[in-house]
Amino acid sequence: MSHDIVDFETYRTEKFGSDRETARLELINGLSRPKARIAPKYFYDALGSKLFEAICQLDEYYLTRTEVAIFADHAAEIAEVVGPGTTLIDLGAGNCEKAARLFPALQPNHYVPVDISVEFLLRAVEALRKSYPQIPIHPVGFDFSESLALPAMVRKRSKKLFFYPGSSLGNFSPLQAAQFLTRIRAACGERGGALLLGIDLVKPVEVLDAAYDDALGVTAAFNLNALRHINRLLGSDFSVRDWQHKAVFNAAQSRMEMHLHARRDVTVTWPGGAREFSAGEGIHTENSYKYSRRAILDLLQRNGFGETSCWSDAESRYLVCHARTI
Ligand code: TRP
Repeated sequence: MSHDIVDFETYRTEKFGSDRETARLELINGLSRPKARIAPKYFYDALGSKLFEAICQLDEYYLTRTEVAIFADHAAEIAEVVGPGTTLIDLGAGNCEKAARLFPALQPNHYVPVDISVEFLLRAVEALRKSYPQIPIHPVGFDFSESLALPAMVRKRSKKLFFYPGSSLGNFSPLQAAQFLTRIRAACGERGGALLLGIDLVKPVEVLDAAYDDALGVTAAFNLNALRHINRLLGSDFSVRDWQHKAVFNAAQSRMEMHLHARRDVTVTWPGGAREFSAGEGIHTENSYKYSRRAILDLLQRNGFGETSCWSDAESRYLVCHARTI
């Protein structure tokens, strides 16, 4: 099966040869703004992916286990709506666990895990191939937040089911989310396709605060780890000890905001530039929008999706939706 990896490497070099330079420019731009910010994708180096796995096991982080329970409790109904013979395209596959749990019910013809954390993805795929030798797996390593330009052998397949769990859609602004859905809609092609989405719902702020600032400090480590990743990509000299994790709910925008605050006055330098931060000044690292059921259905409907089926948990903490293209 090593040809998959060759395909994937060729594809990566052709389309994304300048990834590193793009990342460097994007990071410098974000760090140089009056209100410094970095894109959430920089959380996910190899250690970041592991820390996120650990977050998913925390009591406070209800999202993952609630989503897992919804998929488990409604697997048969979901499989019925999805139908047979799909190409399952997993956006942000990580360790591929979520999709793999759906394999027995959905029985996809083809599995295409997509992730920016390439080494992590390839290791997961290696293990998955042993457990599911009957399902062809074609890993793709790229940043799908910018474009959904999938390899031709994936693009030409019919019955595409895009899988976007983990409330990752909530990490886009509502405008970006609309654009992202439009792109998925386009990538589904004209013969029809669908999206299987998991999204977190609005709820009392205490529950959200705990989910994004857990007692063990794993979320803090996850947020701070982005600085180590940036140091490697940019050659910058962030000292992790100078920074502190902050999570706040912004009610007006219905979103959790993640920041890194300077513990004291700090100057960060990188080849060709520098930025001063005064004590308490922050770098905005992520937003996690929380939707109402109505709002998410509207968003889907306005951006290329029609017939929608939804499943939730008893406490209405989280929502799973299957939406067909129009
Ligand atoms: N997509 C996840 C979410 O919004 C990512 C996440 C979980 C996260 N915990 C975090 C991002 C803490 C930054 C900081 O729920």
